[in-house]
Amino acid sequence: MLSINSECILSKKSEDIPPFYVMEVLENAQAMEAEGRHIIHLEVGEPDFPTAPHICEAAYDAIVRGSTKYTHSQGFLPLREAIVNSYYHKFGIDLSPNQVIVTSGTSPGLLLVFMALLEKWDEVIMSNPHYACYPNFVKYLGGVPVYVYTNDTNGFALEPEKVEQYLSPNTKVILINSPSNPGGYVMSPENLKGLAAIADERGVPIVSDEIYQGLIYSGEEHTILEYTNNTFVINGFSKLYAMTGWRLGYIICPSECVRVIQKIHQNFFICANSFVQEAGISALQGSQEHVTDMIQTYNMRRQYMLKRLLGMGLDVRKEPTGAFYVLADARKYSHDSLELSRSILNNVGVAVTPGIDFGNGAEGYLRFSYSNSIENIKEGMDRLEAFFGKKDEG
Ligand SMILES: Cc1ncc(COP(=O)(O)O)c(C=O)c1O
Repeated sequence: MLSINSECILSKKSEDIPPFYVMEVLENAQAMEAEGRHIIHLEVGEPDFPTAPHICEAAYDAIVRGSTKYTHSQGFLPLREAIVNSYYHKFGIDLSPNQVIVTSGTSPGLLLVFMALLEKWDEVIMSNPHYACYPNFVKYLGGVPVYVYTNDTNGFALEPEKVEQYLSPNTKVILINSPSNPGGYVMSPENLKGLAAIADERGVPIVSDEIYQGLIYSGEEHTILEYTNNTFVINGFSKLYAMTGWRLGYIICPSECVRVIQKIHQNFFICANSFVQEAGISALQGSQEHVTDMIQTYNMRRQYMLKRLLGMGLDVRKEPTGAFYVLADARKYSHDSLELSRSILNNVGVAVTPGIDFGNGAEGYLRFSYSNSIENIKEGMDRLEAFFGKKDEG
């Protein structure tokens, strides 16, 4: 049989995509579970709650009704209306449903926006640390990620004054993410305003990943849309509505840019899944009680986890108040976060994400997700305390 030389047939840019280390941790943890080890999962960035019954029923009803065909490439109009209504109710912003393109998740939304915006060598300013996949989207499309190293004392905030220093004639996009992964931090209105002013003055659009919108535990929430129109907002149903596997997201963009993104969407994806879109309408328009309950539960877990992590000598210098993550400084114990996370998994059976997954700005940090039951979090914290109790500071 002919053996394939993958190096000859696969593109260099595909070969160059780095692994997502959190998946490596998860796969190792699953292999250990298959051998009978009991593992506590604090690595996954996925709600542990089921999707609410009324959302599931809406999808089921849609299938039974025969809503199983291609839809408009921008998505069902009632869903786009529900999306703009949700922004109106939360932030008082008037948007048109024609500014919305519904996608099969936030990830395709990011890809479509970067496809529409980037030429080769265009620079995308982003914070470091950042969501692991951002630089890969940019590099795959020939762009160049430009990292602004941020600081944990102020919640890894992307400050306008710092961003100014990285602007160049090649700057094409400023990428922001609030509430953030991996830090769980919420951007201040001052920083959002400052970045919006840069966008308006320099004509550099802001791509704003708002996938964790709604998951905040204190203070006020804002969207970049309150401060500038020169923005491409990407959001979705994965996190707030516990719908990761449904694959539903959307882009809100300036009306002038819709047609181009729509054409790319038509060509490469056609449309988002029809009955999942109907479930999305039910998520936005139905009872929000399950969301309120989830937020209360996350908040209780967040407070507990923070107290325990600080108690075992890991540093969290600013309280994270959004998403469901804590990014803690473990450099007291190791500067190699991948090795440290492997050692924690092997020794005490707790899966955590190495900071290096999120850029070298988070090397020596570990990300802990509180999307697990309080019982499991307690058990995980006890095991971690035992691990760090025995480990030399170095
Ligand atoms: C910051 C951020 N953006 C985007 C995504 C992808 O979300 P989706 O499931 O909608 O593709 C994630 C998933 O973890 C994320 O953390």
